[in-house]
Amino acid sequence: MKFFIDTANLDQIKEANDLGILAGVTTNPSLVAKEGVDFHSRLKEITSLVDGSVSAEVVALDAEGMIEEGLELSKIAPNITVKVPMTLEGLKAVKAFSDKGIKTNVTLVFSGVQALLAARAGATYVSPFLGRLDDIGQDGLHLIDEISDIFTVHGIPTEIIAASIRHPIHVSEAARRGAHIATLPSKVIGQLVKHPLTDKGIEQFLADWNNRS
Ligand code: E4P
Repeated sequence: MKFFIDTANLDQIKEANDLGILAGVTTNPSLVAKEGVDFHSRLKEITSLVDGSVSAEVVALDAEGMIEEGLELSKIAPNITVKVPMTLEGLKAVKAFSDKGIKTNVTLVFSGVQALLAARAGATYVSPFLGRLDDIGQDGLHLIDEISDIFTVHGIPTEIIAASIRHPIHVSEAARRGAHIATLPSKVIGQLVKHPLTDKGIEQFLADWNNRS
């Protein structure tokens, strides 16, 4: 499983990139709004920092509008992936982008069948939202099993991005259950690195080293 970061914040992207683990970035309208910056200029900055896929979401609700926005976004850099919501209009847009060789990430996926439809329309990636399912008392991770099984049985090449990740168990389980990518909030990257026994071990090694005779 590869790692993307789920943010539009440049410092967080640079920090994750320096760790050598970053294969891409996902953004969404809420994350971009939080930064208070121009969307296209921020995408330009992100794509110049990161070689992998950078997902940029359309906000139009009709296919024509989505296609118009997505075409503009895809001109920003060759590594832009157009992020499209999982709707009937979204599927039409995905088909149009796929015909033009433009990569797509179908977002707000909450069922296996939605993922299958997105894949059949030509999606490069599907983004099942784990945390938001957990929030309403459903099992977000079960959705990874479901999509992974469907894609395996039918030999579908669309990649699964485990999204709406809230904690390290989401990440380890998504990897175990067949997600190709996990898109991580910066906070979760920090949590994944940390282990109390690692910290305790370093402390002990240093203490022993400083007390050497
Ligand atoms: C995915 O691409 C989305 O940007 C993101 O993971 C949504 O997560 P949230 O439910 O924490 O907003």
